[in-house]
Amino acid sequence: MAEKRSVTEAAVRGRRVLVRVDFNVPQRPDGSVADDRRIVEALPTLKHLEAAGAKTVLLSHLGRPNGKRDMAYSLRPVAHRLSALLGRPVPIADDLVGIHAIEGVTRLSNGGFLMLENLRFHPGEEANDPTFAAELARLGDLFVEEAFGTVHRAHASTVGVPKRLPSCAGLLVQKEIRALTPLLGQTERPYVALMGGAKVSDKLPLLASFLGRVDTLLIGGALAFPFLAADGADLGATTVEGGLAPVVAEFREAARAAGTAIGLPTDLVFERTAGAVGEVAPASRIPAGARAFDIGPATRQRFLDVLQSSRTVFWNGPLGLAEDPRFSEGTREVLAGLADVPGFHVAAGGDSARVVETLGVRGSFQYLSTGGGAALEFVQGAELPGLAVLPDA
Ligand code: ADP
Ligand code: 3PG
Ligand code: MG
Repeated sequence: MAEKRSVTEAAVRGRRVLVRVDFNVPQRPDGSVADDRRIVEALPTLKHLEAAGAKTVLLSHLGRPNGKRDMAYSLRPVAHRLSALLGRPVPIADDLVGIHAIEGVTRLSNGGFLMLENLRFHPGEEANDPTFAAELARLGDLFVEEAFGTVHRAHASTVGVPKRLPSCAGLLVQKEIRALTPLLGQTERPYVALMGGAKVSDKLPLLASFLGRVDTLLIGGALAFPFLAADGADLGATTVEGGLAPVVAEFREAARAAGTAIGLPTDLVFERTAGAVGEVAPASRIPAGARAFDIGPATRQRFLDVLQSSRTVFWNGPLGLAEDPRFSEGTREVLAGLADVPGFHVAAGGDSARVVETLGVRGSFQYLSTGGGAALEFVQGAELPGLAVLPDA
């Protein structure tokens, strides 16, 4: 994808800069920020604006409050963490386009920050309501898109505002575009996509987009079960997403035509009864009543053999039920093994990013996207409304 006009080229001194960030971060039960990666990744842009003397107004959503003001989704804990990271106060306006926001913006000094409350407290945000977008746009002189994780949404803050103001991309958005664009095609080969996760119907467009684009597609997780079932495997009492036999057959045919090899598990880890110790069996013969949740040791080795000779790897989706220590070893072993493989390794996905941290395999990846759905749509080659609206460099 083409480079976007950069925030570093914009004249910002003394001007009101609306910065859309994706501070939709995991929280602890008391509301405090459990993982600040998305905040930390936006710091270079925010520090640039501070040093350049901009009056920065931060816009974000948090969770899905559905257009209603619900303080369980307040951005206050996020403003608190940002303030600690920046080492300066980040006041929060109690509303979005009301008196608090307007007064807060008026009080901003050069190099200062103001955060507005959760965009999704207003019904106009997700509806991309033109009146709401115009009111938001009136708070700023220019717009910076830094919310890579939200560019797949056509909302007031991601599309409505940049249509109404001079706009550019922040440093994180530029970094994401640069890291993910090679995965669309121009990259070193062999190129391997390693896919897992729970739902085939969710991941099918992404899987299909890899046909003809990657050399090998390795499939693990619950994603593999409908493929194994279509091959006649007996999966015992394993939950298999139903009704996919025709889709799988079509997919296989398309893969053959495109010359993309598909690797599936040959053995699986299962539990005989709920909570029982994990046991290994061939993927075609899971005992009656047992449920499979992870790829087995032979599959891990085979996947690693394929990955060993790769030069580019894209990973999305745990290869087993990674939250359960009995079923996390498949994902952990394969991802840990990637650390010794030279090349360009990218991980993307909401659950996948979390698993990278909990399994301690961050070192296996040259790049970990801040995007969940946005990154997956980008890698599929979809047009993302929040990027399409920004001018090219
Ligand atoms: P991402 O959000 O990164 O795109 P997914 O949503 O596809 O990833 O993955 C979600 C979940 O898939 C993870 O929590 C993982 O534990 C789970 N998963 C993988 N294999 C299985 C399985 N066999 N049974 C249940 N869950 C699984
Ligand atoms: C994400 O975490 O994927 C983004 O912040 C978008 O959130 P959404 O799926 O609620 O639109
Ligand atoms: Mg997920």
